[in-house]
Amino acid sequence: MTTPDDLDLAAQQSTALGALDAADSSEALEAFYRAWLAPSGVTTRLKRGIGRLPAEQRAAFGKDVNALHTELESRFHQRREVIKTRELAARIAAEARDVTLPSRPRPAGAYHPVTLVMREVLDVFQRMGFSVFESPHVETDDYNFGLLNMPADHPARDMQDTFYLDGERLLRTHTSAGQIRAMRELGASGTKPVRVVLPGLCYRNENITTRSEIQFHQVEGLLVGRSVRMSDLKGVLLQYARLLFGPEQRVRLRGSYFPFTEPSVEVDIRCTLCAGNGCRVCKQTGWLELLGAGMVHPVVLANGGYDPAEWRGFAFGMGIERTVLQRYDIHDIRYLFGNDLRLLQQFR
Ligand code: DAH
Repeated sequence: MTTPDDLDLAAQQSTALGALDAADSSEALEAFYRAWLAPSGVTTRLKRGIGRLPAEQRAAFGKDVNALHTELESRFHQRREVIKTRELAARIAAEARDVTLPSRPRPAGAYHPVTLVMREVLDVFQRMGFSVFESPHVETDDYNFGLLNMPADHPARDMQDTFYLDGERLLRTHTSAGQIRAMRELGASGTKPVRVVLPGLCYRNENITTRSEIQFHQVEGLLVGRSVRMSDLKGVLLQYARLLFGPEQRVRLRGSYFPFTEPSVEVDIRCTLCAGNGCRVCKQTGWLELLGAGMVHPVVLANGGYDPAEWRGFAFGMGIERTVLQRYDIHDIRYLFGNDLRLLQQFR
């Protein structure tokens, strides 16, 4: 039997099987398929070669070519399974995650105790119709002192030494500085009533001790209207004390002095620890100092744009840290600004 070289099926078969064995990736297998089994591949070409054979060899050759094609095809599929399995195993190994590792801790944040108390205080006043008014920490001498009836030589300034940034600007010593801003911004040139609370940090140049810091939080209140009276002030503060410290709370007003109020009072609440019986916290008096307050001084009303003959107001200002220390039984105010996680984590 004469067969042209490329029609030597035994040789073709051994070349093909060699190529298949050598194909060790999906890409190489693809290439094998294209070379041997695809319509443009060797087996198709062999079938086309049938015509060049003597007639009596054609039937047998055709059968052998078909057999070769079938064999290569089934070997190809087997090989493909092997490669697929191997490649999958390799991928799984490469992408493996060790799920037995403990997960990373997700630290939960916490509100600072000052923030907690501050929010409660603001919430109580908001329930009474006060809105929150923010004013700058860097103030002018005028807003912090002058317009609040404390001219340059006023002795009350001695109690509030502050940090000056230059001749005119300073860090506010109290939230009262925002009173003038609130009246000027919300009062529409003295024609509209104002009912705001002003929260935030204040600063004083003081010795740092267990009881005092150079920074602390205050909440100021200001209500201006046409017929505001001292009894309104007392009613609001009593309601505040009861909403924050319980329905049995009592308040006490003592005469006092502030340059920006007339008359002025100091307001105490029944000691929240001993209910008035006398203890270490209230120094056996049964009362705790809560805040300073009074009727807005006519000069201050005028500086805010109001005609003091027609408008009146009351104001109050309280420190927040003192309540925080009492509430959580913290004995040193410095802890509140120390950023020590051992303290902060207790509020999670
Ligand atoms: N600003 C005062 C202080 O820091 C507190 C204060 C007293 C505020 C009386 C007021 C007030 O609004 O009427 O010591």
